Amino acid sequence: MAQQEDVFKKIVSHCKEYGFVFPSSDIYDGMGAVYDYGQNGVELKNNIKQYWWQSMVLLHENIVGIDAAIFMHPTTWKASGHVDAFNDPLIDNRDSKKRYRADVLIEDQLAKYDEKIQKEVDKAAKRFGDAFDEAQFRSTNARVAEYQQKRDALHERFATALNDNNLEELRQIILDEEIVCPISGTRNWTEVRQFNLMFKTEVGSTADGASTIYLRPETAQGIFVNYLNVQKTGRMKLPFGIAQIGKAFRNEIVARQFIFRMREFEQMEMQFFVKPGTELDWFGRWKQTRMAWHQALGFGTENYRFHDHDKLAHYANAATDIEFHMPFGFKEVEGIHSRTNFDLSQHAAYSGKKIEYFDPESNESYTPYVIETSIGVDRMFLSVMCHAYTEEQLPNGESRVVLKLPAALAPVKLAVFPLTKKDGMPEKAQEIIRDLRFHFNCKYEEKDQIGKRYRRMDAIGCPYCVTVDQQTLQDNTVTLRDRDTMEQHRVNIADLRSIIEDKVSITSLLKRIDN
Ligand code: GAP
Repeated sequence: MAQQEDVFKKIVSHCKEYGFVFPSSDIYDGMGAVYDYGQNGVELKNNIKQYWWQSMVLLHENIVGIDAAIFMHPTTWKASGHVDAFNDPLIDNRDSKKRYRADVLIEDQLAKYDEKIQKEVDKAAKRFGDAFDEAQFRSTNARVAEYQQKRDALHERFATALNDNNLEELRQIILDEEIVCPISGTRNWTEVRQFNLMFKTEVGSTADGASTIYLRPETAQGIFVNYLNVQKTGRMKLPFGIAQIGKAFRNEIVARQFIFRMREFEQMEMQFFVKPGTELDWFGRWKQTRMAWHQALGFGTENYRFHDHDKLAHYANAATDIEFHMPFGFKEVEGIHSRTNFDLSQHAAYSGKKIEYFDPESNESYTPYVIETSIGVDRMFLSVMCHAYTEEQLPNGESRVVLKLPAALAPVKLAVFPLTKKDGMPEKAQEIIRDLRFHFNCKYEEKDQIGKRYRRMDAIGCPYCVTVDQQTLQDNTVTLRDRDTMEQHRVNIADLRSIIEDKVSITSLLKRIDN
């Protein structure tokens, strides 16, 4: 665990050192849970967004995109339920004066039981070698059984408390499980209280009678309030989807784990409108589609899992998370929710507009049901970084840090180096870039020895490097070096585009999921 925390710290500093993520307002010592993306970070982030957007809008004839404003009419948030119920249960430790989310403290405790069980399994696997039967061990080992029983009991109690909105019970669980504050190490806890996560601001001058508005805590409502506009102007037939990428804001009290939980973040959400009664079928389909999108990145199927919700929102009839194995455990990256017709019905009631669909097949009007897929760009970014960050020992005794990013997501696709700064090599290298820059992101580097330049490119995950040398000037060939294998071979400059373009394009990823 400590080792994993160590790796995570290294990833955070790597992000800063190589221009991926900076603390916001860094010169003023940063701001809690707010971050800026640097020159490489923004490229990686844009590529993630492009992969998502194209997978939705290009690959599905019945999905279109919109870009709604961040500010919305204040009644939106009354109708959606956010004003009354977008709360986190918070608890304070009286000694450290630190504030925590009570549900997160308990979830961490559940994860501790999981870790204990896994430790026993790993120990036994080592002891028994090939003869090890994990399923049998899990069902017969007394210690594993004891941990499992405690975990299951806690899980059930926790789910019930959440469903009943029972804040006293949440506190009692924390006391009974002897959960301590990580800072003070004590169990001196306050009561649990609800805290609304929306940021407020004012529109108009106070003299005119300013009104309170909110920074949107999710992009989804911008889609719901545009349902009629899009359905009518696009002549959309059910089932159809509306996709959107945009900023969302939440006053997260417990800011932890770098860009995992931010106060200003970005979401990629798609609301899929379906005929009532078909929603659970579509929920199942979208679960598979979204998992395939993640797994096409090649990070290993074992690093993903579904986590069905213990507490369903009152309007949902199914909900699951796609979790990714981060250095700090399996964590939610995406949520898939079957939201029934709650949002559209609420907006119809609050706006007084009829928000329905006339079904030409059945000749009836109804309020569509909705399946939502909702993924955080920043969390996705973090999972990509965590998986890509690799420290390698090389055969020559040296070591390197390399970001093994999927080539299609890498910020820079090709670096071009002149071997030396003379004999026309820099000019030749620039010529290659001038030609290829229309097709993918290229970078010119002439400073330092070639070995150092390779290391710098490895550290930003650049999949290909090309070196222009004496031979290039005679026969128009260059050495092409592969980031992961570090192998080099000579290729014609004229072939570079065809060798690289397909591998680094978002299309290469889309083809993996289009079946
Ligand atoms: N419209 C549904 C919705 O917003 P959510 O589970 O609250 O659902 C969806 O959020 C996704 O947004 C999460 O799976 C996560 O990736 C991302 N997300 C939520 N809060 C976040 C935060 N404070 N910082 C970064 N990403 C966040």
